[in-house]
Formats: sequence, structure tokens, C-alpha cells
Amino acid sequence: MKACRVPLVYFVVLSAAVQHVTSLEEKLADSVFGNVLDPLKDLFDDKDDSHHTVAKFSLRKPSHPDDDLCYVVPGEYESLANCTFNSTSKTFLIIHGWTLSGMFESWVAKLVSALYKREQMANVIVVDWLASAQNHYVVAAQNTKAVGQEIARFIDWIEETTNMPLENIHLIGYSLGAHVAGFAGSHANNKVGRITGLDPAGPDFEGEHAHRRLSPDDAHFVDVLHTFTRGSLGLSIGIQQPVGHVDIYPNGGSFQPGCNLRGALEKIANFGIFAITDAVKCEHERSIHLFIDSLLNDQEAAKAYRCGSNDMFDRGMCLSCRKSRCNTVGYSISKVRKPRNVQMYTKTRASMPFRVYHYQLKIHFTSKVDRSEMEPSITVSLFGTKGEAENLELKLKEKIAPNKTHSFLLVTEKDIGDLLMLKFRWEETNGWSASSMLKMVSSWWSGDTDSNDVEVHKIRIRAGETQQKLVFCVKDPAAQSLTQEVTFVKCNDPWRANLKQTPKRVKH
Ligand SMILES: *[C@@H]1O[C@H](CO)[C@@H](O)[C@H](O)[C@H]1NC(C)=O
Ligand SMILES: *[C@@H]1O[C@H](CO)[C@@H](O)[C@H](O)[C@H]1NC(C)=O
Ligand SMILES: *[C@@H]1O[C@H](CO)[C@@H](O)[C@H](O)[C@H]1NC(C)=O
Repeated sequence: MKACRVPLVYFVVLSAAVQHVTSLEEKLADSVFGNVLDPLKDLFDDKDDSHHTVAKFSLRKPSHPDDDLCYVVPGEYESLANCTFNSTSKTFLIIHGWTLSGMFESWVAKLVSALYKREQMANVIVVDWLASAQNHYVVAAQNTKAVGQEIARFIDWIEETTNMPLENIHLIGYSLGAHVAGFAGSHANNKVGRITGLDPAGPDFEGEHAHRRLSPDDAHFVDVLHTFTRGSLGLSIGIQQPVGHVDIYPNGGSFQPGCNLRGALEKIANFGIFAITDAVKCEHERSIHLFIDSLLNDQEAAKAYRCGSNDMFDRGMCLSCRKSRCNTVGYSISKVRKPRNVQMYTKTRASMPFRVYHYQLKIHFTSKVDRSEMEPSITVSLFGTKGEAENLELKLKEKIAPNKTHSFLLVTEKDIGDLLMLKFRWEETNGWSASSMLKMVSSWWSGDTDSNDVEVHKIRIRAGETQQKLVFCVKDPAAQSLTQEVTFVKCNDPWRANLKQTPKRVKH
């Protein structure tokens, strides 16, 4: 039976690989996780569920993060001493997800190492449920509850035998493992301190009742990183809905920089299934590497910001830290528990350290005449006390309309310190002849009252990481006339007062 499962999945996926790239994604979602294989559920059902022990608890050593040298066996008190389990220390249980290979992936040892770097005295236990996870996805998903219950019994036993306060227990589950952690938390006699869900699996859990997936009820604090939620294109390996007290969606929860998913999908279309693992893994696994980053680079912890939607975040509208609206990504997150779930957003770099610096730019474009909307290309250079970030493109979420304040999000990869100056460049990308552009540019900045063109007098900036709010004014209005790049310097106008004068019409 087992031998035929994997090839079957491959076959369906391969047949999808010849499709056009986007429909390929949809096909993949359907075929790997969806109804196509549903009839197979019955074949695998229950047979794997006639349980004896499926989970093993390997207490790893800081010196051998990759090796299973000592297992703590529930019910065998000596195994605790034998593995030098320290009952006054923090205890982490790392729970892996679905596997085709049946082996631990390389991130496990990296996470073990990072946890020991941060918490030298900790007990870092790797939960091995590989045998139940190496199955057709649907079956592995069904096994999460039984495995979670087994972990719950382990936790109960640890509590009884060592009197360890459960506040010291932190479950870290990846993908299906996040739901295993949820079941473990909800079935333990007492609540564990924390569960971190690293891109919890979506298929078979999205939209399910809280009892059947990871939820805020499962621990005193549940925090979640979502890195591969791509519902719009059909394939969402990670769950999209919030499932914790705090849910962070780095880069909107999809398209992680450096993963090049689209490129990989094209490769799959051309070269077949063996190209898929890397791209999908990159986005899904990014959640783990963000967490590892937060353990290793605690001086450079990334911040996330509460926001109503990713679209609003992409307009820079959510960089406030008032009333715990912002938080730290990863291990050092503040345990904010609100009655309602909190959704947060952040941008990241393509590799470690992932942190970036977020800025909101509010720009009011004025025009004497009612002119049509524009789609210019706008680049900005920021100059600060510690360095500069040049030629950053402002992403337009909508066309630029006259007499309207537009809000933009801008990020820099490096810390440029406190802002001193910025340069602003505007280029019309279409529909403008060279001469009309020159004319427009020449009158753009001058505040010339005869002009029919657009003017920008001030740029308001809020820095997310420092919470600084600054206003920048045209440095030398008279001298700007024939240049496309205009320099703005700090001016003393109050940020708030000015805000009130300009109609806030960015929201729609
Ligand atoms: C102690 O650990 C060692 C190494 O894992 C193992 O060989 C031995 O059987 C264990 N002894 C007990 C009493 O658990
Ligand atoms: C156990 O951990 C605590 C800190 O969590 C530490 O103070 C103590 O020395 C440790 N005990 C042993 C035997 O290592
Ligand atoms: C824009 O605002 C300015 C100043 O408030 C006003 O003079 C001008 O007529 C407005 N332009 C349009 C197109 O409404």
C-alpha cells in the first residue's frame, strides 16, 4: 500500500505541470490537496490510526543539534535524568510537518541550535512523528489530532513528575505541526505557556472550527507567522485565516522576497515536478527562518504593525505603535492578548537578517486645474545620520489625482539613522511628449501661480521603527525649475497640524 501512494501524488501533479503557469498553481492546489484525491481518503483512513506510540521525544544537545542521542520516554522517569532534562528550565517542543522523505529537514537542527544560542539552559525536544507524517497529505492531516493527543499526554506526564510550571513550555509547530501543537495544547490537562505556529497548514484546516485546528484557546499565548497564503491563485499551503492571538503576515503572507516562486513555477512547467519543492519550500519555510532570525539577531528584531488589510499596509497607513499597535516579530514578541485576534504586517529582506525599516510618505499633490489622473514613476532617495538609501521606487497603489493626499510605504534594507533630507524624482511614464514634460517639470516645484501643473510643497514622513514624524519642505523653490530631481529638507511644520489642513481622501 505504502509504495503506491507517493507515485500517485506525483502522477497527478505531473499531469498538471504541462498547464499554463497560473492554472498550474490551481491544478496543483486541487490535485495535491483537494477533491481529486478525496476518494483515496477511505483507502488510508483509520488503518494508520490504530494507535500505539507514534511520537518520540528526542532531547537534543547544544553540541549535537542534528543528532537524536537521547529520548525522553513518557512513563519512564529515569529517561529524564538520563537525558539531563532540567525541570526548572524553559522547554521547547519542535513539531515538524508533512513529509515525503520521512526524514527531518535541515531546518530542524538550525532551529535547535538557535534556541540553545538564545536559551542556553533550555530543554529543546524534537518531536518525531515522521512515521505518521509520511503519508498522503490528507491522511497526515487526519493524524495530527492523534499525535497532538500523544504530545498532550507527554506534557501531562512531565507536569506530574517534575512539577514544571506549564508556563515554561513552548510548542513550536511548522505547517501540519502547528495544528499538532494546537491539539497538544487543547488536550493537555493544563494550558501550556505558548504555541508558535510557523505557517500552519491550510488545506483541510482553513475555515474549520477552532477545535479542529490551531486556535487561541490552545495556549496562554498563540502567535503565528504566515508566509505562504496565496489564495488568489488557488494554491495556499499555509492557512490564510488568523488562528492565534497575534498573526503576522510578512510581505502580506505571500511572495517572500528571494523565493522567486513564479520563476520556479515556470521551471516546473518546463522541467517537471522536481523543480517544485524548492520554490514552495522557500515560501513555506520562510516562517521558520524568520523565527530563527529572531532568536539569533535579537538586537535587530523586526517589527510588525497592526493593520486592517495588507493593502492599507502597502500604502504605509499602519506604522503606528500606539496602544500596542506594533510588536516584535518572532521569539521576543510581546504577549498581547486582545479579545479579538490581531493581524499584523511587516516587510522583510530576502535573507537574514530579514529586518527592514518602514516609512510612510504622505504627499499632497496640488493643481490649479482639474487634470486627469497620472501614473508617473516616482523614485525617492533618503538621507539620514547613518547613511542613505537611494533610488527607491514608490509603488503606486492608484493613479495620482490632483488635490489629493496620497500615502505610500517605503522600506530601506539598512538603518540610515534619523532622516535629514530626501530627494524626489518624478517621471511621466506615458502619454507625455518631451516638451510637455519639460514644461510640467519646470513649473512643478516652483509654486508658480500661473502654472496648470502639479505641485508638491511638503512631504510628511513617519518612520515605523523610530516612530519619528517629520515634515520635509522643498529646499530651494526658486532653484528647482529645470531639474527632475528635487531636494526636500526638514522643516519645522508640525506633522499633525498640517495633516488636518489637507483633506484625507486616501481611504476609499
Ligand atoms: C540512557 O541513555 C542511553 C543513551 O541514550 C541509553 O542507551 C540508555 O538505555 C538509557 N538508560 C535509561 C535507564 O534510560
Ligand atoms: C537548570 O536550569 C537552571 C536555569 O533554568 C539553572 O540555574 C540550573 O543550574 C540548571 N541545572 C542544571 C543541573 O544544569
Ligand atoms: C486645488 O486646490 C487649489 C487650492 O486649494 C485650488 O485653487 C484649485 O482650484 C484646486 N484644483 C482643482 C482641480 O480642484
